[in-house]
Amino acid sequence: MSRIFVTGGSGRLGRSVVAGLAAAGHEVFSVDRDAIPAEQLPAGAVQYTADLLAPGEAERLIRETAPDAVIHLAAIAVPFSAPEDVIFSTNTRLAFAVISAATEVGVRRIVTASSPTALGYGCPEGWLPPSFPLDENTPATPWNAYALSKLIAEQTIRMFAAAQGDKIRYAAFRPCYVISPEEWEGALTQQGHTVRERLADPSLSAPALFNYVDARDVADFLDVLLAKMDSIPNGQTFFVGAKDALAAAPLSELLPQFLPGSGPLTEHLTGTSPAFSIEKARTLLGWEPKRSWRTELTPPFDGADTAVLKDENNRGLVPAGATSKETA
Ligand SMILES: NC(=O)c1ccc[n+]([C@@H]2O[C@H](COP(=O)([O-])OP(=O)(O)OC[C@H]3O[C@@H](n4cnc5c(N)ncnc54)[C@H](O)[C@@H]3O)[C@@H](O)[C@H]2O)c1
Repeated sequence: MSRIFVTGGSGRLGRSVVAGLAAAGHEVFSVDRDAIPAEQLPAGAVQYTADLLAPGEAERLIRETAPDAVIHLAAIAVPFSAPEDVIFSTNTRLAFAVISAATEVGVRRIVTASSPTALGYGCPEGWLPPSFPLDENTPATPWNAYALSKLIAEQTIRMFAAAQGDKIRYAAFRPCYVISPEEWEGALTQQGHTVRERLADPSLSAPALFNYVDARDVADFLDVLLAKMDSIPNGQTFFVGAKDALAAAPLSELLPQFLPGSGPLTEHLTGTSPAFSIEKARTLLGWEPKRSWRTELTPPFDGADTAVLKDENNRGLVPAGATSKETA
């Protein structure tokens, strides 16, 4: 059992991370500006309400709780949901404040959330990667302040790893479009649609290249990562996604319709293959996602729903301003 300090613990992803790590037997300190309703706080978790950008606040709380590990999730999590300079400065300052405070206190394992958007998909000027599936070696070309702030959070991790050597272990992870448990039951996902709507209308998931992950699988990933951090190279970044795509048709059919020019690159994404590879997390950590929309949606998604909407497929990757707000 470890003592784990989680920032952003009241958020869409944070609630499942706090619950999952507490259920795994850890003592969890959830820190957020907003509180989790007391009746929803899992056994084994304690929460603190705080603004982590207030001077000295991150270090004060980390000293007080004396954790073995810090997981930094707190951020403005939706691109263009605030002015670009506000997103940039909030996310980069939060990452630096929390990572530097944890380093100063001597916490042994420090992890930050990044985002797949760091790669740059959805760019109105066009975007194509060298190859699919996308992985940690795919060049990152962020085109908005959110994506850039996430790449800087990764670089912040690498900077501290370089300065500290292996005394302190650092890592970053890029969760795909997070689906929290209540969203399988019909609650709205981050972009304001249900999972069923995203499956029925491929244009909704196309901006994020049909990526997704169950929030509980991210909690499992973090538990495994913290256990293995001492035995892997320092300062690594990992994609964390489901093993399939959030799509009822193969991506070899869907991606060329939404991502102009991607046809020759995506021919091999047949069956249920996702656009993002989680091979690095599998190989280095032995982590495997357990949940898929195929197992979690009840009743199961009826593929016949998509027939009506397949006519709409001839859209650009960012057909309207709203789609460029996609997080994952
Ligand atoms: N949800 C996704 O699909 C997704 C995908 C990729 C990456 N991410 C990243 O994962 C992390 C969590 O995302 P989420 O969807 O849970 O976001 P969220 O907005 O639901 O949660 C973020 C939390 O951070 C807290 N916070 C923000 N500023 C704070 C401050 N100054 N002090 C204290 N708390 C503060 C907010 O109150 C909120 O509860 C973020 O870093 C996000 O960029 C999320």
